[in-house]
Amino acid sequence: MTESNPLIIALDVESGAEALALASSLGDSVSFYKVGMELYAAEGMSVVRELLARGNQVFLDLKLYDIPETVKRATARIASTGVRFLTVHGSDAVMRAAVEGRGASPLQLLAVTVLTSFDQHDLAQLGYPCAVIDLVRLRAKNARACGIDGIVCSPLDAPVVRAAAGPEAILVTPGVRSHTAGKGDQKRVATPAEAIAAGANYLVIGRQVTRAADPKAEVARILEEIAAART
Ligand code: C5P
Repeated sequence: MTESNPLIIALDVESGAEALALASSLGDSVSFYKVGMELYAAEGMSVVRELLARGNQVFLDLKLYDIPETVKRATARIASTGVRFLTVHGSDAVMRAAVEGRGASPLQLLAVTVLTSFDQHDLAQLGYPCAVIDLVRLRAKNARACGIDGIVCSPLDAPVVRAAAGPEAILVTPGVRSHTAGKGDQKRVATPAEAIAAGANYLVIGRQVTRAADPKAEVARILEEIAAART
């Protein structure tokens, strides 16, 4: 299931022009991009359509969370564009609505179990009297029961998520950094090789590549690191 190039580059930039220039500079070393809220807020679906038209795959990271009818209809619209991955929050009603909305399309749905910025104190404030990892495990299991294809999770939680979600689940991990790169604002990070070893199928990497002096060379270096870990 894991493709030979497991990298998804997060285009966290403020304009479509910047995003497309970055994608062009990476050439065919990357063909999978994540469009998140910032770029979506700036450009809507136009940048997504352009990335797809250039032969890329797109992960639309909108983390949908709304009433079922709205989630279903929004998912159906997104499914019709050819986007490959879409995130939704891991509550059962939301996940079921998204599964209904994507119908027979090839869109694959990923659940966000617990935002990685949440700690136990945040969960307690929401009224969940449990440890973060227990809620991650429960929601990963429920996601699969609802027909969701995969889970977005920290590479450090990937073994627990894999055990809960099963061997067929697609595990996508942000929070990945080479030892040579700064951690940025991510607190819990793993290297690309560690994330793959922990069971990730795809790695989302943003600033290590997008803010590198030479983004294409940085991608090549990361792919070498992954290849070395696989042998
Ligand atoms: O720049 P960096 O590699 O930290 O970017 C990580 C990307 O993954 C960002 O787009 C961020 O929004 C996203 N993300 C994350 N942690 C999550 C879910 C998504 O960092 N739990």
